[in-house]
Amino acid sequence: MTLPDRFDRIRSTPLRLTIILTLIFAVAALGCFTTAYGVVRANLNAAILSDLRQTVATFRQEGEPDELLERLTEAVRVTDPSYRILHYLPDSGPVISNAGDIAPISGTVTLAGDSLGPTDGALAESYLALSARVGAGQLIVGQSRRAIIEMSEIFAAVVLMGLLPAMLIAGLAGLWIARRAQDRIGAIQDALGAMTGGDSTARVRGIAAGNDDLSGIGQAVNAMATAQEALIVTLRQVSTDIAHDLRTPIQRVSVLLDRMARGADLPPAQKTLLLQAQDETTRIGRTFQALLQLAQVEGGAARDRLVPVDLVGVARDVVEFLDVDAETQGLSLTAALPASATVTGDRQLLSQVMVNLIQNAMLHGAEGQTVHLAIATCGPVVTLTVSDHGPGIPADERAKVLRRLYRLDRSRTTPGNGLGLAMVKAVCDLHRARLTLEDNAPGLSVRIAFPPVSADVGTTAQRPHLAQ
Ligand SMILES: Nc1ncnc2c1ncn2[C@@H]1O[C@H](COP(=O)(O)OP(=O)(O)O)[C@@H](O)[C@H]1O
Ligand SMILES: [Mg+2]
Repeated sequence: MTLPDRFDRIRSTPLRLTIILTLIFAVAALGCFTTAYGVVRANLNAAILSDLRQTVATFRQEGEPDELLERLTEAVRVTDPSYRILHYLPDSGPVISNAGDIAPISGTVTLAGDSLGPTDGALAESYLALSARVGAGQLIVGQSRRAIIEMSEIFAAVVLMGLLPAMLIAGLAGLWIARRAQDRIGAIQDALGAMTGGDSTARVRGIAAGNDDLSGIGQAVNAMATAQEALIVTLRQVSTDIAHDLRTPIQRVSVLLDRMARGADLPPAQKTLLLQAQDETTRIGRTFQALLQLAQVEGGAARDRLVPVDLVGVARDVVEFLDVDAETQGLSLTAALPASATVTGDRQLLSQVMVNLIQNAMLHGAEGQTVHLAIATCGPVVTLTVSDHGPGIPADERAKVLRRLYRLDRSRTTPGNGLGLAMVKAVCDLHRARLTLEDNAPGLSVRIAFPPVSADVGTTAQRPHLAQ
């Protein structure tokens, strides 16, 4: 994987910004150091060269060749070769030098100390040397580059001991700040995810105090969620009010239709219509009844009435009750139950949850031929699972089927009112149980994980978990 690919995989904006800022800081600091180093080095070089030119000029002033040789011999004798080298190669006669052999050079060059000699190791590591014609010969003067080398070492030490730790500290501090920002972004993402999953009570936690942009976004999300929750409550109230107001007239219509059916001797065609009208009013009555019951459960009044219940006992009764229906439909209803599994709950509501789920599996997942009910205990957690091998529910529909009156398109012609799973979710919230809809590959598997019995049955609604 190349570096840009790896960078692409970093999804966190604060982390990206930290890396970018640290890199910019490193490049800028290195750029400044390099420029400063270049300027100081050029100045040192210029100073040495001017010194060397000055020396050459001094020797050139000697008019007489003998005097020149004499001065050179004296200068070579008193000059320390570790600081400065002098090397005179006359057109004829012996070499005058304090630096052993030097191959002919022209102009300005850098000479390595060990390329000269032998002078008993008294030479410097390197010299800046200048070759010039003086009198009847070629003069090479050189000066040790020790000062330049020391300056380079100081710059390297500054980079190692100053810049690198500074970068490390900046990088670590950046990571810490990025981590904190990421935590808050994570909290906003979690809250939005929970809201998308149907939990209207979800809020971004821990952002109230801040006055920065992230806190602002978190507060805006919370304000939006509060408004949305109020809207949902209003909508629920409206549907409950409608159900409440229309229940009595519908019951009256039902009684009137009953009377009509019993009283008059109707022709067969009208009798059929009357029966259909009776069926429809019964259906409307049931839907209203279910809506009112749902509102009651969501209202949370039953929360104070929750007691220890053996879920296995409830399951046995439900299986016995639905076994005949399953057989009539040619389905097999199987159950895997432990000896007992106690949860804190409402027996009647838990029984209704199991009936709703098994009836859904028999009705919507009927092609699978088997419906399986299982209760398992894992430590203090009791899990109830109802699974079938039917068509299942597509992942993107799993949150929606928990809403009131929502049915998949393919279920429009089957009997039902789309309130069964809404009721299951409301009962789960009431029990603080975790509801999960999963792919049973093929089919649907609905799992409810109850909280440990000792846990207080509080007021927070649990959001359903929707497996992809
Ligand atoms: N076991 C299942 N297999 C496939 N689809 C299901 C299953 N259970 C529920 N559904 C789908 O979810 C929708 C909502 O279920 P529910 O709330 O119980 O309403 P209803 O059963 O009255 O239609 C159903 O209409 C159906 O489309
Ligand atoms: Mg149903």
